[in-house]
Amino acid sequence: GAPVTADISALAEGQRLIMEWRGQPIWIVKRSKAILDALPTLDGHLRDPKSENKDQQPAYIKGETRSIKPEISVLVGLCTHLGCSPEMKAEIRPEPFDPEWKGGYFCPCHKSRFDMAGRVFQGVPAPTNLVVPPHYYENDSTIVIG
Ligand code: FES
Repeated sequence: GAPVTADISALAEGQRLIMEWRGQPIWIVKRSKAILDALPTLDGHLRDPKSENKDQQPAYIKGETRSIKPEISVLVGLCTHLGCSPEMKAEIRPEPFDPEWKGGYFCPCHKSRFDMAGRVFQGVPAPTNLVVPPHYYENDSTIVIG
């Protein structure tokens, strides 16, 4: 499929832009400082906190944020278990079922949880982090997926 372009200049904190690329939903999410600060605190609860599984992101995506610009996260919006669509919960608050939950993505099909970088928690059915698709910035406000 051809690359697709998005204008992110109007994207507000906590907001998500949904696009389509190669028949897959692509999420572009602007994260708050609170969300970014929470990411390193989660490492001990995650299956692959450093994103060492090379199949889940391009080589230039590194670290806890899994992004080029810290605040902008780009993910394929499909659960890595059986492909359901996870729900976004961008606010930081504890959930009764998991006190370590600090917001992220929750898959309603079999309760897999991911953080706001798409990193999968331990003890859930999804085996791997959400996929980061290949992408780059054409300029400050234009992102190209593909
Ligand atoms: Fe998401 Fe099974 S498809 S947990």
